Amino acid sequence: MTTGEDDRAEERIAELIELIRYHDQRYHSDDASEIPDADFDQLKRELIELETAHPELGRPDSPTQTVGADPSTLFAPVKHRVPMMSLDNAFDRGELIAWADRARRRLVAIHARRAAEEASNQGVLLLAGEPDGKEAGDEGLAEIEEPSVQLGDLVCELKFDGLAVSLRYENGRLVQAATRGNGRVGEDITANILTLKSVPHLLPAGAPQVLEVRGEVYLPLAAFDVLNAQQEAEGKPRYANPRNTAAGSLRQKDPTVTATRGLSMWCYSVGEVQGGPTLTTHSATLEYLEGLALPVNPETVTADSVDAAWEFVNECEARRHDLPYEIDGAVIKIDRLDLQQELGSTSRAPRWAVAYKLPPEEKTTKLHRIQVSIGSKGKATPFAVLEPVFVGGSTVEMATLHNQDQVKAKDVRPGDTVVVRKAGDVIPEVLGPVLAERPDELPEWDFPEICPCPHQQPLVREEGDAAHYCYFPRCPEQLRGWIEHFAARNALDIEHLGEQRVGLFIDLGFISDVSDIYSLDYERIRKLEGFGELSAANLAAAIEASKQQPLARLLVGLNIRHLGDTTSELLADALGDLDKIMAATVEELAEVDGIGPIMAESVHEFFQSEINREIIEKLRAAGLNFAGDASPYEAQALPQTLEGMTIVVTGGLEGYTRDGVGAAIKARGGKSPGSVSSKTTAVVVGENPGASKLDKAEKLGIPVLDEAQFHRLIETGELP
Ligand code: IVH
Repeated sequence: MTTGEDDRAEERIAELIELIRYHDQRYHSDDASEIPDADFDQLKRELIELETAHPELGRPDSPTQTVGADPSTLFAPVKHRVPMMSLDNAFDRGELIAWADRARRRLVAIHARRAAEEASNQGVLLLAGEPDGKEAGDEGLAEIEEPSVQLGDLVCELKFDGLAVSLRYENGRLVQAATRGNGRVGEDITANILTLKSVPHLLPAGAPQVLEVRGEVYLPLAAFDVLNAQQEAEGKPRYANPRNTAAGSLRQKDPTVTATRGLSMWCYSVGEVQGGPTLTTHSATLEYLEGLALPVNPETVTADSVDAAWEFVNECEARRHDLPYEIDGAVIKIDRLDLQQELGSTSRAPRWAVAYKLPPEEKTTKLHRIQVSIGSKGKATPFAVLEPVFVGGSTVEMATLHNQDQVKAKDVRPGDTVVVRKAGDVIPEVLGPVLAERPDELPEWDFPEICPCPHQQPLVREEGDAAHYCYFPRCPEQLRGWIEHFAARNALDIEHLGEQRVGLFIDLGFISDVSDIYSLDYERIRKLEGFGELSAANLAAAIEASKQQPLARLLVGLNIRHLGDTTSELLADALGDLDKIMAATVEELAEVDGIGPIMAESVHEFFQSEINREIIEKLRAAGLNFAGDASPYEAQALPQTLEGMTIVVTGGLEGYTRDGVGAAIKARGGKSPGSVSSKTTAVVVGENPGASKLDKAEKLGIPVLDEAQFHRLIETGELP
């Protein structure tokens, strides 16, 4: 290319940028377009072509690089004109074959019915599909064979582990992008999607009037590594896995943040289409999308049998770690669109496609040590300290071993090579040792008899209980958890006293038991880094307000073993004030409706402790409300974010008792039963989850959420 040509290109680029900016302004702000949309698009297309031919002349202020959507519409609801479906799952070859058989039989029935209808219109009675109903010699009866239906080709795609989105192009221009949401209504994420380099803002000339493209937004592994390297360099925590990071990146209020994350997209289907070409197969649809410069994954293949599709699945499994992005399975789709149409969908998923979910990934690593962590109620939980290993999409360094019996049953010993996987693809789990690699005479691990804290109090395992406990109320290992629990929403609800501040105040020696919250020295706090006049005053006001919380919440905050939100309320209602509860005998406590003997024992024992009584007296002196009052949940009208949802929780969630999490779900309009069924909207996994609930969720294809995703769900009602 000559310099003269370059100069001309540079001039024309400058001219086009100016023109496009001018018309964009007229279009968006003044609502008075001077040129037809098609002419405007032609200007943009010319600019894109020039910039592609002369990458060195690309300008960062070019409208092809800047966001054209108004960020103020971010997250506004978007109704999908064609619902965004989910997929049914197959977990083995048998289930894949069963899916294809079901589809074939359904098509046979549909075709037979149609043939019968056509024949009866012609006055002939057919017996197709009912061979036993035929009477020999029947006059006027024609017989047909059961229609032979071939499923035809199967399109085999990777199942990308990201977030489903829908892009709407009108006359070739990207006008809206939305998340899947609940399949019928999603959220507007146009401004964020426009920052993705792989998503064209404009399609080439001749694009349909309306084209909705569906696909998966994902974070390539390389981009994930770059982000984590940045986090580490800035001393910030690593992101857990690419999928969650992609979700967080798409949910940014500021599109310039999304732009820095390196998100990408694969397109795999279409929604509403008007004015497009007539296509007869899914594979032709993908080719068509590719022809429009939309990102279509190159790994897709067409298989002529279920066996060939199964081969693809096996290859996916073998190659899953060689790909530069994460997948969680394969998707098999019937290629012929006429058959897809005939098969239709259930309310949840199309019958013409099935997802093969890859089994949770397993890796081996070294088990360095087994340590014990002390929870907020003094529960001592053993956990494995592992040589960091990347498994199931994130690096695992620790995994809970639940309790003494589990360690014994798994027979894992420090120094073993162990097999690790993600349970429900979320919680790291140690499956067991690789015995062949066990060093000779490796000793078993013994549960420590002493709490790891400096007070070195005994760890006690009561009869009939699998867990060990440290009962020392000032155990610093417990303190952090107890204070966080005390300040949590379902307890004293102290805003501005989050995890980080609790940690800071403990480390600085400001707090050594919960009552110290009420004698904080704000003069000193004001001078701490990250605080100031205003934030110290806000904290002081929140702490002051918490003194008025009703007795039931104070009881929750005291963190008494076995006592939850509901039982705290029962106790507060029945006995009226804290002094009466403190003075009650085990028998009197057990007489309260809903309070069992174990709970009564635990409450009684709590108030027998001298240290606990000391703490209670300090709380009394601080002016906390020791008298009964109205239910804290009745007093609040929370946004009904979970209306119509059934959320099953398994395992402990930070900041909630088991009763409390159920109450929090109910208070937001949701249901929270104890078991997983096909009606379950999502399963939330906390610490020490039940394996059966996770297995069932996986079998039924129900989304499994971690704690952070649960918090987002109750805030927004959005499933990830
Ligand atoms: S097709 C109507 N194809 O998997 C068909 N989905 O578990 C809709 N997914 O919500 C989906 N890769 O987010 C399809 N190649 C692929 C996919 C894919 C990933 C996701 C998609 C969907 C979820 C269902």
